[in-house]
Amino acid sequence: MKKVIHIVGARPNFMKVAPIHKAIAARTSLQQLVMHTGQHYDAKMSDVFFADLGMAAPDIHLGIGSGSHAEQTAKMMVEMEKIFLKEKPDLVSVVGDVNSTIAAALVTSKMGIPLSHVEAGLRSFERLMPEEINRVVTDRLSDMLLTPSRDADANLLKEGIDPKRIHLVGNVMIDSLLASKEKADQLPTLKQLGLTPRAYVVATLHRPSNVDNPKLLAGLLSTLIHVARKVPVVFPVHPRTRKMISEQGHGPELEKTPTLKLVDPMGYLEFLSLTSQAQLVMTDSGGLQEETTALGVPCLTLREETERPVTVEVGTNEVVGTDPARIREAADRVLSGDVKKGRVPELWDGRTGERIADLYARVLGVEQKRAFG
Ligand code: UD1
Repeated sequence: MKKVIHIVGARPNFMKVAPIHKAIAARTSLQQLVMHTGQHYDAKMSDVFFADLGMAAPDIHLGIGSGSHAEQTAKMMVEMEKIFLKEKPDLVSVVGDVNSTIAAALVTSKMGIPLSHVEAGLRSFERLMPEEINRVVTDRLSDMLLTPSRDADANLLKEGIDPKRIHLVGNVMIDSLLASKEKADQLPTLKQLGLTPRAYVVATLHRPSNVDNPKLLAGLLSTLIHVARKVPVVFPVHPRTRKMISEQGHGPELEKTPTLKLVDPMGYLEFLSLTSQAQLVMTDSGGLQEETTALGVPCLTLREETERPVTVEVGTNEVVGTDPARIREAADRVLSGDVKKGRVPELWDGRTGERIADLYARVLGVEQKRAFG
């Protein structure tokens, strides 16, 4: 029996693997295992996502945890090699651009195991961003490059990747969003936080380039305080950001604005219930730029560039940079009702997991169960 191993490690991986795993189980006779590297280990950064997405616990858990990039990636590689030797997968499927992704890509390709990269071809063209290195190297090593949008295909073709290896499959994360929306809508999140639909802002910040830089962090927090003087702002705080806020002594200043609500990281459904009814999302996350585009919710990206240009060209996203004056101006504009309307990009239709399952079955020569729908 042909075997696929899926790699997950960090929060943005779980909602990408869940639909692929589900579709493979429903549509093919492939055997599949989920390997969790343990890059994210807090219950709120990992376990809750398995529960929310209806995924079984990982089959293999490496328990690597945090560390420097070299340390974390190297530890993952050592453990993965042992597992691949034992399990002998016919295909390793990686998603996204985190350190778990590049660790698996390096080990898989050196062992001569076919490698598939889901969410291939995204480029920020900013080599100081760790994820950009992970994307470029993973794509270079992958046998199959599964892209979410045509701009990603164009990037790969420019880099000289054989077009036969590129498969435009759509955005798999949006499968999870569409499958979960109804459940999320039933949660009492807004009531619990005292919020009115379309009358609050959701903010997230976790990019090292933003939060590890004290001056930038101070400027970004000042923009959230500015916005919170007009409408409530809910700010679920990533552990990295929480640490920096505390080290930089921003706690007391933030507490002076009670409408800026700092909360713990949220589960998938709870967070979706919040973003889907927001008036505006302000973020430096990659995934959230896509989710807001799928939801039709305005998004201001607090970075100088994006690797997801389709969210700007087609969707509701605006890249506003990190200058506080520019961010305040953009937020004020959206809050006054001047919003950018968007459309949902091509193939962000909730069926990407099915397309991936069919592709894997075909490539591995496995008979498909009768495809439904
Ligand atoms: C990682 C990804 C990033 C992704 C983000 C989503 C890389 C290079 N970065 O960044 O692309 O957008 O996940 O969250 O892979 N920590 C905890 N508990 C945890 C995990 C982390 O407290 O469960 C703290 C630790 O102090 C750790 C720090 O957060 O050192 C950073 O974690 P790490 O996984 O290295 O990177 P992220 O910033 O989360």
